[in-house]
Amino acid sequence: MQIIDIPVEGYERVVRATDPASGLHAIISVHDTTLGPALGGLRMWPYPDEGAALFDVNRLSRGMTFKSAVARTGLGGGKAVIIGEPGKLKSEALYLAMGRFIEALGGKYITAEDVNTDIADLEIVRRATKWVTGLRRESGGSGNPSPYTALGVFLGLQAAVEHKLDRKDLKGVTVAVQGVGAVGSALVLRLVEAGAKVRVADRNEQRVKAMVDAHKVAVIKEADILTQDVDVLAPCALGAVITDATAPKLRCKVVAGAANNVLLAPSHGKLLRDRGILYAPDYVINAGGIINVGCEFLRGGYDEKESLKRIERIPHSLRELWQIAERDGIPANEAADRLAQSLVDAGKAKKKSPARS
Ligand code: NAI
Repeated sequence: MQIIDIPVEGYERVVRATDPASGLHAIISVHDTTLGPALGGLRMWPYPDEGAALFDVNRLSRGMTFKSAVARTGLGGGKAVIIGEPGKLKSEALYLAMGRFIEALGGKYITAEDVNTDIADLEIVRRATKWVTGLRRESGGSGNPSPYTALGVFLGLQAAVEHKLDRKDLKGVTVAVQGVGAVGSALVLRLVEAGAKVRVADRNEQRVKAMVDAHKVAVIKEADILTQDVDVLAPCALGAVITDATAPKLRCKVVAGAANNVLLAPSHGKLLRDRGILYAPDYVINAGGIINVGCEFLRGGYDEKESLKRIERIPHSLRELWQIAERDGIPANEAADRLAQSLVDAGKAKKKSPARS
């Protein structure tokens, strides 16, 4: 296996590995370890070229630094990608080679599940390195993160409703949920139990049917879910939902959901603010999964009680940054980035002068 450093400004370490024997072509990006070891998932994707993979892994890795900082997980930010078509390339040899690649970084990067990588793949990686987290419950791991992400989103959504609508509970509050997959479906269950009036859309008909069979929810066409006249829009499908085209058409008062990169660009946060729509920044409200996985890794064994305690602080983090946004007259997504950067900077200052800390 050949491992080569790729210098990238603002990143602690970015490394590429190629291993012809297994077909591995992967990049690990360690953005920042000021606040702890860099934990982030391992994604497999058929990127058109290495440049596209490098762009994506660095963007995601920086995002993990910010996400973990605001969630106070005690972790830094990193991410890894394997370049290739999952259907063609996945093999035991590939994941063992990936494990050796992670091991070569000596614990600076800790891996976990991500798009096209599941727990079974991680169990193979684990045979070559101990720097793996999010393993099966039976192996002492924290298991599937989605229910924990959904819990954090639910609590954050409740906080947003209280902040914007001055409502202490969700009875009768209308919520449009886009995407009822792993996180969206668990969120719907909690919303229905809390008395909210829920509308759902998913391009997967079976998932919609499962929702209708289990709960009293209204089904909306995929094309119409974003523009529902509701209190809350909860995007729980893909990213880039808020754009120049969609923002003017929204009829909700709050945007609070699980999807990563909800805003197509940071400037779309301002469009929401200008329209008086309260935004719960994606990486703050959807941090339940990383908090849960972090509790497995940092405590040397999974502790659900501790994880739940930490997830319950998500509303506090959101209120903190809505206050910053209001005080500084900036959109909530910008306030989140500022808060994250200030926490990392404070960590750096503390490391430089430990005697005064
Ligand atoms: P999933 O793949 O289980 O569910 C996504 C659902 O969205 C699928 O049912 C899919 O059919 C549907 N969908 C896709 N495009 C759609 C569209 N245009 N309109 C309506 N439905 C559409 O994914 P999961 O795990 O539930 O994640 C949802 C989002 O939350 C993703 O953006 C993910 O990155 C993010 N997220 C998930 C975490 C987790 O713990 N699973 C953690 C943090 C973020």
